[in-house]
Amino acid sequence: MTVWVRADDVRAGSRAARAAGKTVGFVPTMGALHEGHLSLVQAAKSQSDIVVVSIFVNPTQFGPNEDFEKYPRTLERDRGLLEKEGVDLLFAPPVTEIYPDGAVTYVTVERISERLDGASRPGHFRGVTTVVSKLFNIIEPDLAFFGQKDAAQVAIIRRMVRDLKIPVEIVVCPIVREADGLAMSSRNAYLNSDERKTALILRRSLLRAQEVFDRGERNPRNLIEAAKKIFSAEPSVRLDYFQIVDPETLEELDSVSGPALLAVAAYIGTTRLIDNIVLSA
Ligand code: PAJ
Repeated sequence: MTVWVRADDVRAGSRAARAAGKTVGFVPTMGALHEGHLSLVQAAKSQSDIVVVSIFVNPTQFGPNEDFEKYPRTLERDRGLLEKEGVDLLFAPPVTEIYPDGAVTYVTVERISERLDGASRPGHFRGVTTVVSKLFNIIEPDLAFFGQKDAAQVAIIRRMVRDLKIPVEIVVCPIVREADGLAMSSRNAYLNSDERKTALILRRSLLRAQEVFDRGERNPRNLIEAAKKIFSAEPSVRLDYFQIVDPETLEELDSVSGPALLAVAAYIGTTRLIDNIVLSA
């Protein structure tokens, strides 16, 4: 595995592979890798000839009071894991390589980026779409792999690719969970052992709504109410949102008649976690 820190070098590597007739699969990450990330790498391996992974803790997607400084950075360990997975190129640039002095250009997907996490984390998705479009310009992948764990991110990236006519195919991979159902996340490392147990509440609330849905309830208000009851029994948890939205536009639904994204975000202590499931009628 070759490790590059400069955009021109990784682009040359990616272009050389394409010139040799190979397809390039790309997995963007912020590192602190877990099985969720590795599942994307495995999907990329199976669907493309060359796999490029990026590790970059992107400052512009963190709000001023968020965890940019304390976000786990475990590059040496991550590098070992990626090597074992047979990744070809690792791109791990410094901030100045992606945001050179004087960079003032951003990519914004209007409206959709203000929904779900975008409502409680203003500017977050602008940071995501800006960095992902820069990474796409640098790596020029044929395929790019994202996790369903960040369902709003998927909807926004898909819209950006469509609107800006970026020649890349977006592949979405299922959520990888711990044995007890907690969605894997680099932020789970912040949880103490009590919080780790409490964190299961996100999954429980989704399954509760699913259960009510399976019994025939189609009114989002009633589904949400059933899920929110789970949270009222746990006053130490601060619910950020529990919404039922169109998976493409992230607009709230009046009734569940087609595919519906059930998405939740909550603070366990100071750690903000997200999870989701897709209901289909
Ligand atoms: P990060 O949180 O590191 O996640 C990188 C990719 O791994 C994302 O596509 C995310 O959805 C996926 N992922 C995380 N946990 C997962 C799980 N439990 N199961 C399946 N996939 C999972 O998402 C980002 O980084 C950033 O916003 C990024 C796209 C890299 C832009 O900075």
